[in-house]
Amino acid sequence: MSIRITSTSPGSFPGVRGRRTRMSSALREMTTEHRLHPSMFIAPLFVTEGDGVREEISSMPGYFRLSLDLLEKEVKEIESLGISSVLLFVKVPDELKDNEGTEALNPNGLMQRAIKKVKEVTPDLCVMTDVALDPYSSYGHDGVVEDGEIVNDQTVEVLAKMSVSHATAGADFVAPSDMMDGRIGAIRKALEFEGFSNTGIMAYSAKYASCFYGPFRDALDSAPGFGDKKTYQMNPANVREAAREAQLDEQEGADIVMVKPGMPYLDVLRGVRESVNVPVSVYQVSGEYAMIKAADEKGWLNGEQAMMESLIAFRRAGADLIATYFAKDAAKLLRK
Ligand code: PBG
Repeated sequence: MSIRITSTSPGSFPGVRGRRTRMSSALREMTTEHRLHPSMFIAPLFVTEGDGVREEISSMPGYFRLSLDLLEKEVKEIESLGISSVLLFVKVPDELKDNEGTEALNPNGLMQRAIKKVKEVTPDLCVMTDVALDPYSSYGHDGVVEDGEIVNDQTVEVLAKMSVSHATAGADFVAPSDMMDGRIGAIRKALEFEGFSNTGIMAYSAKYASCFYGPFRDALDSAPGFGDKKTYQMNPANVREAAREAQLDEQEGADIVMVKPGMPYLDVLRGVRESVNVPVSVYQVSGEYAMIKAADEKGWLNGEQAMMESLIAFRRAGADLIATYFAKDAAKLLRK
């Protein structure tokens, strides 16, 4: 039998057909370039005072503020799903808020108790903590306010003390989300000085002044009391500046750098990935979660599919780690 050779010019259609590797599920699996694994997820947790408290956040359907006693079950479940880390945020009662964020340094404050609780019930989970003044600030800003200005250097001092306080309570990683200049170096120095040389820093390096944080500010009642956060968080129009911020944080000793928000900033994520050699994380923020949930509730999108597509997009754009309110839901799907 002779082989019939049709006239196909090499390197082009019809000899070359992109669909060939999409023709079966086996082929699609074999040629998958990026995958998700629960160990890449960081699960944010909102902690509140009280006993038996489980309050749904109105703009984040399916997401709750939990009191310490209920945190126990939650972190055990998170660990059993194969998720490696949690990121703790606390809702601070109004009467404990002041301009300097004094309560942030209370060794028996809610954050410090939450860290101890999580390390006690799930010692192998990596406990990360939010470091910024906004939940503690009477002005709802991430730093100390003087004459209407968010002052950098004085804030950095508090952030360094706050980091040491979290490390003392048992935090594995501190995650400064404030965008003050020089804070990574100052925090690293303070941690070393106090003997916490193995406590890591995940720097929110490229954190934009974004409306997508709206639901989070509902969750913690932490919306700025005056003005906005544009003198410290980044201008959404900029991308080169993100590489610069990430490189500075890497030089100052950040162990992981982060880009935030996620979906509207995939190009930034790619750019940062190519600018540093430390692991890069992305934060799929509250507004992104809210949008997917809302469209799902309205029947306009398939929420589960939108969730998985958004998460794989982060991997494709270069994320090593993904902080997401979908951590548990996605981990459950991946386990099936
Ligand atoms: C505060 C902080 C914010 C988020 C994480 N840490 C809000 C802000 O900067 O106003 C946003 C997280 C989210 O929207 O899911 N430093």
